[in-house]
Amino acid sequence: MNILDIIAKKRDGLALGDDEIGFVVDNYVHGEIHDYQVAAFLMATYLQGLSENETLALTRAMVDSGERMDLSRIPGIKVDKHSTGGVGDKVSLVVVPLVAAVGGRVAKMTGRALGHTGGTADKLDSIPGFRTQLGMEEFVDQVSKIGLAITAQTAEVCPADKMIYSLRDATATVSSPPLIASSIVSKKIAGGADVIVYDVKVGSGAFLKTVEEARELAGTLVNLTVKLDRKASAVISNMDQPLGEAVGNSLEVEEAIDVLKGRGPADLTELCFAIGSRMLMMGGVAGDLSEAADKLDDAIHSGQAIKKFAELISYQGGDERVIESPRELLPHASYVDDFTLAEEGYIGRIDAEMVGRAVLELGAGRREKDAPIDPSVGLLFLRDVGDYVSAGEPVVQLHANDPHKLIAVAEMLESAITLSAEPVERAPIILESFD
Ligand code: URA
Repeated sequence: MNILDIIAKKRDGLALGDDEIGFVVDNYVHGEIHDYQVAAFLMATYLQGLSENETLALTRAMVDSGERMDLSRIPGIKVDKHSTGGVGDKVSLVVVPLVAAVGGRVAKMTGRALGHTGGTADKLDSIPGFRTQLGMEEFVDQVSKIGLAITAQTAEVCPADKMIYSLRDATATVSSPPLIASSIVSKKIAGGADVIVYDVKVGSGAFLKTVEEARELAGTLVNLTVKLDRKASAVISNMDQPLGEAVGNSLEVEEAIDVLKGRGPADLTELCFAIGSRMLMMGGVAGDLSEAADKLDDAIHSGQAIKKFAELISYQGGDERVIESPRELLPHASYVDDFTLAEEGYIGRIDAEMVGRAVLELGAGRREKDAPIDPSVGLLFLRDVGDYVSAGEPVVQLHANDPHKLIAVAEMLESAITLSAEPVERAPIILESFD
């Protein structure tokens, strides 16, 4: 077999065999073929697409490129969730303790910030002392003991995905549904859970901009996962505007605490319930979605959900007192400024991608690989789509450490927020589901 023939075959739109796809992945990881050859292969794949069988073969090859979490000694069904990435997406911070509080066993491997989207591991890093890098043994032990653990993905899991993802990033081949699906599913399979619920984001702040693309990706994620002998379902959720009110690492932890105490924003709470209910039902803890939602509601109102989050924080070395005093104990920015609009009207749109970029400008995200991030900066939305705002009324709170950034970020917010003279209805948060 040789790489040139494989590239030419894909370039000409012919189907590749499992052995040919395995050859590319295996030899790339072992340094036997060059970046420029795999770059050409990826572009051919991007343009010609991959069949279901080819996508499955690519996913399998990426899983086989590294280690897998062995969760077999944890009794019961292990559940996980995955978001395709958004702005203000703190669902994992809520859903992991919430589902565990009701008896689900949640083994969550999580990612870091990518582009203008945030990462759960970075959000958790803002809790003083919290360790996001657990060893495999420790991760499994913790889920066995307390029913939940969250760890950042280690270098040993799916090394092929890491290498291929970097190359995609540098060759304009990220937004290909089969490449995205194989990248995500390979990591979830290697993570070891029996049940995976996917949250496929669509809209301005997501990687996929149209519902058709999101539908295709959701179908591929579910099919691939089922073919690899796990259970899966997916929801397509709206990412045209930021999720919840907070965007920025410690501000989002504080908002997640609010949801777990029963006083979070409606859109975020609804999405957490949609995902959490599916995890509970497919994990065998509830018979149907409505029973699952009732259990989640009870866990919040009895205080069990927030107690579980405190337990998670304390097991992973963090200061659990943040639950009671988030403002005092989470990192906070030196400057807090109100953003106002010069005119009045109904808020018609808050462009999530622009908000993500504004938060990146404040220093909350990662512009380059391994660059440091500032846990304390971000934006807190005081008003939402559909609200009527008067001229000069505070609409967003800017949390910054560099006062020079305030003007640039205010300009970005001016272009992100659109006013309408007519009343506007907020779009639903859940657009479709694949059960
Ligand atoms: N998230 C991933 O893990 N991989 C992709 O390709 C896109 C989003």
